[in-house]
Amino acid sequence: MKNEKVLILGACGQIGVELTIALRKAYGNNNVVATDIQAEHHLLKGTGPFYNLNVMDAPAILAMIKKEGITQIYLLAALLSATGEKDPMRAWDINMKSLLQVLDMAVQEKLTRVYWPSSIAVFGPTTPRDNTPQQTIVEPRTVYGISKYAGELWCQYYRQRYGLDVRSLRYPGLISWKGEPGGGTTDYAVDIYYEALQKGHFTCFLSENTYLPMMYMDDAIRGTIELMEAPLEKVKLTMAYNIGAISFSPKEIAASIQKHIPDFKIDYAPDFRQQIADGWPKSIDDSAARADWGWQHNFDLNRMSNEMLMHLKDKLELAV
Ligand code: SER
Repeated sequence: MKNEKVLILGACGQIGVELTIALRKAYGNNNVVATDIQAEHHLLKGTGPFYNLNVMDAPAILAMIKKEGITQIYLLAALLSATGEKDPMRAWDINMKSLLQVLDMAVQEKLTRVYWPSSIAVFGPTTPRDNTPQQTIVEPRTVYGISKYAGELWCQYYRQRYGLDVRSLRYPGLISWKGEPGGGTTDYAVDIYYEALQKGHFTCFLSENTYLPMMYMDDAIRGTIELMEAPLEKVKLTMAYNIGAISFSPKEIAASIQKHIPDFKIDYAPDFRQQIADGWPKSIDDSAARADWGWQHNFDLNRMSNEMLMHLKDKLELAV
């Protein structure tokens, strides 16, 4: 893995910032080329090469692959579930076209590996919601979920037809303090920490007992790199792997925050995102990932709340 040269598309998003930093630590700063349509994230500044690049601009991506001698791509740019519902055709276009272009270029340029994230959004209201199996009824109702499921099928097609080594995880809601999330249904579980520290109060767009699968970003980043570094014979599934960690409701995350900030108050004003959440799993069966390549999570809800509040306090320069 040490001779790889990695291209990250969407390096300034919630996953991209932390994955870029972690890959630079593992492979060397200059071996991880970060790109995004947005300006360079402040946490990436000075840590390695960065270029502005639009994920829809195939000729520019191809030129970057050739110029930098890229051997692996992580395609992270996407519109998430809530943003996607506001402009479905745009979400479909961005999520699918970017993937199909990258898959094609990866075959053409003989890249060694591609990473593309999938999501719990591939599941829908007809899927069993508790401990959702790896293989089950899959009828997504959001454009984001449709694009993720179609994308998984395309990844599988490229692996089987062209022998492309493309790997994928169905992330649950990801919770982090470094990069900023945007446009997800699970993002209330990030916003709640900011508002608890800044205002002592949070109005949640999901109802109090809405359980969703969630994961602290440190676990997600480590799991992603472990999947990408696993020998191919261990990556037995040709669709994306379910990975799970924790499952909680808004009421439970609020209670974990109240252990640190006893006066913190939450109230509930469900909006259109409630319907999205009601169609998603409450918890995930990730036994295939655990058995095949050794996935395990480290953070439970209370440990995550400790870390989030500690780091965000510093970030926001507050003394609570
Ligand atoms: N976190 C994503 C969302 O809420 C799910 O993959 O859209």
